Parts: sequence; structure tokens; C-alpha cells
Amino acid sequence: MITETHTIAVIGAGGKMGMRVSDNLAKSAHTVSYVENSPAGRERTLAAGRDLTDAATAVADADIVVLAVPDLALGPVTAELVPLMKSGAIVLTLDPAAAYAGLLTTRDDVVQAVAHPCHPSIFLQRQSPAEWADTFGGIAAPQDAIAAVESDDETHRQIVETTVRAIYAPVVDVHWVTVKQLAQLEPTLVETVACMVGALLAEALHETVHTMGVPEDAARSILYGHVQVALANGLRGDNPFSDACLIAMDYGRESIIKEDWKKIFRDDELDRNLARMLHLDSMGR
Ligand SMILES: NC(=O)c1ccc[n+]([C@@H]2O[C@H](COP(=O)([O-])OP(=O)(O)OC[C@H]3O[C@@H](n4cnc5c(N)ncnc54)[C@H](O)[C@@H]3O)[C@@H](O)[C@H]2O)c1
Repeated sequence: MITETHTIAVIGAGGKMGMRVSDNLAKSAHTVSYVENSPAGRERTLAAGRDLTDAATAVADADIVVLAVPDLALGPVTAELVPLMKSGAIVLTLDPAAAYAGLLTTRDDVVQAVAHPCHPSIFLQRQSPAEWADTFGGIAAPQDAIAAVESDDETHRQIVETTVRAIYAPVVDVHWVTVKQLAQLEPTLVETVACMVGALLAEALHETVHTMGVPEDAARSILYGHVQVALANGLRGDNPFSDACLIAMDYGRESIIKEDWKKIFRDDELDRNLARMLHLDSMGR
């Protein structure tokens, strides 16, 4: 178990992720400073009982700077703050897109790291109502996290791991990958595919109720149960799908999925996807 404490600066402390990571860091033994520039974000930080620090002061002391600012702001924010960091410190972003796109200001003596929460697994054995309620993670339900650190130094990895375990707590495993692999996981695997399927399910439910006229309670109930079966059978092989179901699944695949859909796993398509997400004409790498 890692018990070291570090000096941590959270930039964007009043945003969605900033509030989540700050709520957890405030319970930790780390020395934390909170930085926020919008009036609403400053108000949220103060209302949570946390003091605000100016960016230059917070960053100068930090062993690790957590950038909880929007992805589109990471370029200008790193341009401003990375030059102020102490030598050997770590800059941690919470999404790989901007780092993989090469948008961040880097320094030879400042380590770049990225860490993303996995969110609690649908197969997690939840023990309490609080764990059931925590679908996002970081409050009560245990989750894994994925991290990438661009340094071979074990000390850097340990600081990142300690920080990741604190900001996304409770964390079971931290999985180490490269920044590129993290970008292949998020967005490609989980946003482009999994979140898109989640939104498609909501649209299918809407059509069932509003176009076909099925009572909403019935449609919602059968969908929720079947989503669990689809995921348990599809991802874990809990039970085989029935023969009739397999035929209906083939019809669904032929009708809904484009034949060339696996192009999303190519590097050039990842670049296209990220450029779109980051509002860039093309990737800067
Ligand atoms: N929202 C999520 O579910 C989620 C999940 C995982 C990772 N992330 C990542 O977390 C990061 C933050 O996303 P978010 O959704 O929390 O954004 P957000 O827009 O909710 O919050 C960003 C905060 O940063 C503040 N900010 C902007 N520029 C600043 C600056 N120069 N100095 C100080 N504060 C500044 C804003 O005022 C705002 O309060 C992004 O990299 C995002 O990809 C988000």
C-alpha cells in the first residue's frame, strides 16, 4: 500500500471533474490547492469549504498538477502553467485526446501523464445502496482506472498512481497503458462504440413508445432486463442467445451496422475522430 503524501494542485477545481476529484482529495492526507477562474466555479469551490489559490502559487509548489479544465482549454492552460512548474513535477490530464493530439505544452523536465476513470463495472458486486447509486464512480462504488505516464522513472509512476487512487477513489486496479492506447480506449472503444450504443438504446426505446405505440412502462421494463442479458451473454458468455434471437440479431446487424465499421480502429480514423472532438482541422502531431 502506498502511503506517501504529495503536494497537488487542481486546476479547474469548480468544474464537473474538478469538484469530483477535489471532494476526494479534500478527504486525503495530501496537501492540495484549488484553482478556478470562472465565477460559478469559484463559488462552487468556496461553497464546498475549500480555499482558492492563484494558479502561479499553486503550480510552483506542486509535485503533480491535475488539469480538470475542458479539453479545448488544455493547450492554452499548459502554455501558461507548465513553464511555472518545478523541475521533475508531473502534469496530469484527465483525458488522452489533447495529449495524444500533441496540443499540450511540454518541458523536458516536466512529466506528462494522463489518467481516466473506468467507471464501476456493470458486473461489480455492489454491496450497499450507496454503491448501487454510484454509477459514475469516485463516491462509493469501486472502479479501476487507466493511466499513462511518459517517464521510465518509478517515482513518477508512484506519484501518478497515488494521485489516481486518491482522485478516483475507491480504486481497485490501475492499468498502465501508453497515451495512444488510452486514446484507443477512450474515445474509440468506450465513447465511439459503448456510449453511442447507450444513446441508440434510448432512441430505440423512444421509437418503440412514440412510433409503435407500446406502453412506456412495458417497453422500459423489457429493455432494461434485456440490456443486462445482452451484456452478460455478449461480454461474459453467461448464457447462449436463443436460436431465434441470433436470427433477429443478424437482422439488426445487417440493418443498422455499416459493413466497414471496423475502420474506427485504424490510426487515421482515430485521428479524424480526435480532430473532430478537439475542433481541429487536422491533428497537430
Ligand atoms: N465530465 C466527465 O464526465 C469527464 C469524465 C472523465 C474525464 N473528463 C475530463 O476532465 C476534464 C474536465 O472536464 P469537465 O467535464 O470537468 O469540464 P467542466 O467544463 O465541467 O469544468 C472545467 C472547469 O475548468 C475551469 N477552467 C477553465 N479554464 C481554467 C483556467 N485557465 N484556470 C482555472 N480554471 C479553469 C472552468 O471554469 C470549469 O469550472 C476534461 O479533460 C475532460 O475530458 C471529464
